[in-house]
Amino acid sequence: MSSLQVCGSCGATLGLLEPAMECGCGGLLDLRHDPPAEDGRSLRRLFAARMASAAPCDRSGVWRYRELVLPGVEHDVVSHPEGNTPLLQREGVSRWTGLDHLLLKHEGHNPTGSFKDRGMTVGVTQARRLAVTALACASTGNTSASLAAYGAQAALPVLVVVPAGKVAFGKLGQSLAYGARTVMVRGDFDACLRLVREASARLGVYLLNSVNPFRIQGQKTIMFELLEQLGWEAPDWVVVPAGNLGNTAAFGMALVEAHRLGLTDRVPRLAAVQAEGASPFAAGFAEGFARRRKVAAETVATAIRIGDPASWDRAVRSIRDTDGVVTAVTDAEILEAKAVVDGSGAGCEPASAAAVAGARQLRQRGVMARDDRVVAVLTGHILKDPEVLLEYHRETDPPRPRQNPPVEIEPTLADLERVLHIV
Ligand code: F0G
Repeated sequence: MSSLQVCGSCGATLGLLEPAMECGCGGLLDLRHDPPAEDGRSLRRLFAARMASAAPCDRSGVWRYRELVLPGVEHDVVSHPEGNTPLLQREGVSRWTGLDHLLLKHEGHNPTGSFKDRGMTVGVTQARRLAVTALACASTGNTSASLAAYGAQAALPVLVVVPAGKVAFGKLGQSLAYGARTVMVRGDFDACLRLVREASARLGVYLLNSVNPFRIQGQKTIMFELLEQLGWEAPDWVVVPAGNLGNTAAFGMALVEAHRLGLTDRVPRLAAVQAEGASPFAAGFAEGFARRRKVAAETVATAIRIGDPASWDRAVRSIRDTDGVVTAVTDAEILEAKAVVDGSGAGCEPASAAAVAGARQLRQRGVMARDDRVVAVLTGHILKDPEVLLEYHRETDPPRPRQNPPVEIEPTLADLERVLHIV
């Protein structure tokens, strides 16, 4: 079996071991693999059998699908392992969205607390195959946390470039703790990405943002694993929060591929949800993607505070191929959705809650039917962003919906009783 890198814009091809991050024409590269020899039914059996295996490659929820990710690579992978995340049903969240059959695919259960580990295991494995000497990324926080961890495991130096003052504490702490050289730039994520793309070309460090096609291959497995958990019965909708559009791109590819290979009998519709203050892709969708848009981004969901998404063209293909939709939700809606998800015991970071807020809005607008089977992807863990969480539950007048402020007392039984009576 063999694979190629193919330019999404002009169709030019490159070998798998070419370290280029983009085509000469400026288009992003995608990987194309020869189709596996097995048919859909045999593949389903193969993937299921690996769940009972003790081999390191089979223990990973990414490498378990290796024929569709990076065929022929199964030894020397840099794997934590990752993936194998739960598909949750939470009554309170379903009720709030108005959807009878809503499930939550919780990618916050990955080793560094976000979906980024799925792409990073593939990207860092490829970096080792290329024998590069250093790794780099720009990030709103999760990519850097993940790269820092996988780089440490691979014993490669890591440079991360983040917007100063705009990265949630949990993520910044991870990057420092895993030992990455962490640079805070006085500028937004878009400026950081421009800088690191330039630096990687000039300084020869290997770039691990989602422009890297190997990362996208790993992120496809969120969909493969989800479909497998549903017995390969495709849902009606998959809802994803959208920032730099790597996931939107990866999900569309995976859903179309799963159908083409006979793993599923149809393609679910994709709903990409942006924060209103960072919604160039939603604006593009509203005008039929007539042109590429950029905005100066601002939102409480710092993970998706992105104004010039890199995977725009790939994501447009995903939306078109899946008969998808793109929408935007306000910060207030994101925070309320987060309080609902947190209050259900599942918990997630603000950007993830955008998917749930989006599902509710699409139901209210009648785009989704009450009995549609919908899966919202929760991209990050509740502990990633403790500042937003504590700020939300601080006492305010008027109180926010579902606010739960802490109560301070003297160490007396009388005080404790008084508090309990209030409850
Ligand atoms: N949710 C979370 C928790 C994220 O960290 C990100 C992106 C997204 C959603 C959006 O995904 O970019 O594929 O559309 N975080 C990147 C980072 C940008 O640097 O950690 P996307």
